[in-house]
Amino acid sequence: MKQKKVYNTIGVILLFGGFLLFCGVKNLVQAKELATNSQVLEQEISTVSNEEEVDMELNRIKELVKNNKNGIAKLVNKENGLKSSYEPSDLVEPNVNSIKNNIYLSKSATNDLEKMFKEAKEEGMNLYLISGYRSSSYQAKLYSNSLIRKGKEYTQKYVSKANHSEHQTGLAVDISAKSIGYQLSQSFETTKEGKWLEKNAHKYGFILRYKKDRVEDTGYGFEPWHFRYVGYDIAKYIYENDLILEDLYK
Ligand code: DAL
Ligand code: ZN
Repeated sequence: MKQKKVYNTIGVILLFGGFLLFCGVKNLVQAKELATNSQVLEQEISTVSNEEEVDMELNRIKELVKNNKNGIAKLVNKENGLKSSYEPSDLVEPNVNSIKNNIYLSKSATNDLEKMFKEAKEEGMNLYLISGYRSSSYQAKLYSNSLIRKGKEYTQKYVSKANHSEHQTGLAVDISAKSIGYQLSQSFETTKEGKWLEKNAHKYGFILRYKKDRVEDTGYGFEPWHFRYVGYDIAKYIYENDLILEDLYK
């Protein structure tokens, strides 16, 4: 009898122990599930807030473009031209290395251009300014000379018609280096100056305007020498998101 009681007690203890173990494991599983769910939720919340931040930044930049569409963000391309009489009122001669005198640029782009040339030099890059502001009539001459010398296909790909060149805004520059004989050629891409500009121009408010992989969209061939001033914020956004100016007008 006594033995049976002992067995019963052991049985009850084992049963109770088993029950406790079962509850423990169940709680553990539930706790794990809860933790996983909250992790997923956290991830979802952070993805949503990242997307919101990205949208907010794009909206801010688009607003900036809209507010400056007649200034530093002006869109000039094959579809959007300027009046032939258009000339920036604030042209100055930048204090930088250049191949000739009398290259002018809008004052709004000049300080940053000078800073860019100076800091490039400190890093061992000798940039040379080849072209800046071009009047409508000068651009017309360039176009007709190019037609004669280089033909229609080349000209349409690399030279704007009068009133359709960014150079008329006073916000565009062509830059080259001694190592390629100060030429405006595709080989500028392979020079240390060309590489430096590609990576750093946005820090000074300039963008590489005619990209290799956006020929269809800009309407022009790849021009590693042509940089357009759009201001620091817009340039940074365009560079970091691998865009072209046209994308911000959509
Ligand atoms: N080379 C650029 C497209 C211009 O002529 O303005
Ligand atoms: Zn140019």
